[in-house]
Amino acid sequence: MAKRKRKGGRAGLGDPSEPPVRAGLVGPRRTVPAAIGRPPYALTGEPGPSTSNVCRTAAEIDAMRRAGRAAAEVLTIAGSLVAPGVTTDAIDARVHDEIVARNGYPSPLNYRGFPKSVCTSINEVICHGIPDTRQLRDGDIINIDVTVFLDGVHGDTSCTFFVGEVDDLSAMLVRETRQSLYKAIDTVRPGAPFNAIGRAIEDHASKHRLGVVRDFIGHGVGTEFHSNLQIPHYFHPRLTQQMEPTMSFTIEPMLTLGAIDCVIWDDDWTAVTTDGRRTAQFEHTMVVTTDGVELMTVTESGACAADMHAG
Ligand code: MF3
Ligand code: CO
Ligand code: CO
Repeated sequence: MAKRKRKGGRAGLGDPSEPPVRAGLVGPRRTVPAAIGRPPYALTGEPGPSTSNVCRTAAEIDAMRRAGRAAAEVLTIAGSLVAPGVTTDAIDARVHDEIVARNGYPSPLNYRGFPKSVCTSINEVICHGIPDTRQLRDGDIINIDVTVFLDGVHGDTSCTFFVGEVDDLSAMLVRETRQSLYKAIDTVRPGAPFNAIGRAIEDHASKHRLGVVRDFIGHGVGTEFHSNLQIPHYFHPRLTQQMEPTMSFTIEPMLTLGAIDCVIWDDDWTAVTTDGRRTAQFEHTMVVTTDGVELMTVTESGACAADMHAG
């Protein structure tokens, strides 16, 4: 293989030698106007045990289209802010305001005590990064994970964005993680076993010598942020349960350049790779239809933030 050119003066991006992400300062919780409907955990921080059905009513599916559309719009706006020097707290502020402007509640806010309105996960952060005063740097990759609670249901979606110019290996990681999500979505239809999702992701990842994180999985989503339905992103032989029309869930693969195991920071949220190498994630919320799948987390025209990496 030919030697890749690196930009001068910087540790190898996507390389174990790059300096680790360090936490900044976390500002106070943002407030949501009293008139906006909240999920039950907003006050106490505790969602309690999952009790909802895995299937949605027609009215719930319609509400999920609205919540999902709002989440897709807000994620696209959040992505447009990504640039060197911008803090993740500034992204949190904008996401919060755009969700409230759509009459939604930012689902992460106080979910199991989460202190902010969105998750921002940079470089080796796998997921659940807390927005803070750290500035984005040229060459970083950042996953922004937006969830909107609107009309009684949640829409959950994420995309990994490039900060300025990113090295080839990181760009490959991001593009193939996106591709693994769409290959997994292609398996969704009534009668398909749930383990077809993980098989598609694992097959795609191994072709590109990427790791698949096992510690975080997709989930049922609808009237609850996280319901009982579990969607592993790796092949699980015994997960032969069949998909049925109106089931609603996320697929949200996290792929890595190296190790797939994680360490959780002292903040009890931020999950990083054990070897410090980079990881990327993409997520959509979807509903099984009579003959396939409908994505909830797209704009009115069917677009989404991940489209920027298409081709
Ligand atoms: N949006 C994340 C997911 O995809 C969950 C974030 S929970 C939070 O499931 F509390 F960290 F916000
Ligand atoms: Co999710
Ligand atoms: Co999410």
